[in-house]
Amino acid sequence: FDAIAVLTSGGDSPGMNPAVRGVVRAALNQGISVYGIQKGYSGLLAGDLRLMTSSSVRNIVQRGGTILKSDRCEAFKQPENRRTAVQILKDKGIQGLVVIGGDGSLTGAHCLAEESDLAVVGLPGTIDNDIFGTDDTIGFDTAVNTALDAIDKIRDTASSHERHFLVEVMGRNSGFLATHVGIAAGAEMVVVPEYEVHIEQLGQQLSESRRSGKGSSGIIVVAEGRDPGLTYRLAEQLRQQGEDPRVCILGHIQRGGQPSGHDRVLASSLGAMAVSYLLAGYSDIMVGVDAGGIVEVPLDSVIRYRKGLDPHLFELALLLHK
Ligand code: F6P
Repeated sequence: FDAIAVLTSGGDSPGMNPAVRGVVRAALNQGISVYGIQKGYSGLLAGDLRLMTSSSVRNIVQRGGTILKSDRCEAFKQPENRRTAVQILKDKGIQGLVVIGGDGSLTGAHCLAEESDLAVVGLPGTIDNDIFGTDDTIGFDTAVNTALDAIDKIRDTASSHERHFLVEVMGRNSGFLATHVGIAAGAEMVVVPEYEVHIEQLGQQLSESRRSGKGSSGIIVVAEGRDPGLTYRLAEQLRQQGEDPRVCILGHIQRGGQPSGHDRVLASSLGAMAVSYLLAGYSDIMVGVDAGGIVEVPLDSVIRYRKGLDPHLFELALLLHK
């Protein structure tokens, strides 16, 4: 390889910067030039590629967001636009590409690898941790901790006013973030898209715990992906049962902030490993984590299968508050 490129795409996640740094520094150490593509696939189509040096990634390991910027690019779903993208890369002598992002971004990476002789390696970058083939994703740990920090604060006021709080967390269509946050926050209840929610039961449970003196303020963590507006409907249901709950939607706060130590190490390792895999001749793969080790997974299966929420972990989330 003479030159490779790197881009971040889709919803940003804390840790994308150390991942970019890992790619850039590992490639430069091997004497390979690296282009940073601005604003994901949109920037690629616009030809916005900038040659990076070691100092381009100086002082970013601790910064949230992504210095390369990110975007969700509808145009990249069209094969003719992907052909344009390949040509833009070839004109610059780029033979390898590292794509850091979630499901949609990795789908784009797979198409590029399939339709050209470009070597493409994906890295899982999303706070949702919903990528098949990897136990962990860049940004998940930080997002869990950000939500916990918020919920710990909410508990203070919940307890002063003896109120229940419904706290909505992100996660798109999956309940990974909600389940982890629920367990770590000691939530009274966790509602996820993967399992049915029994609204009446929820109300009864909270009233029961108030009556028995166990708790007059509870935290219910609700994953955003269950169905739109559910968090407010649950609050309404509790109101009808005589409670006076409050709703707090954590939203994009979960996407920002300094990456945790865990995410910095994960992102740095995956970034450097992406370059090693390219040099070893791999393409059309994602580099992820399995049982603590770094593994490669064909992008084809990454985008084809849905990662299942561990039922034991979800049961644990419901069990421990009892
Ligand atoms: O995939 C990351 C994520 O933050 C999801 O949890 C959320 O549903 C979505 O992105 C929000 O996207 P946007 O920033 O485009 O509103």
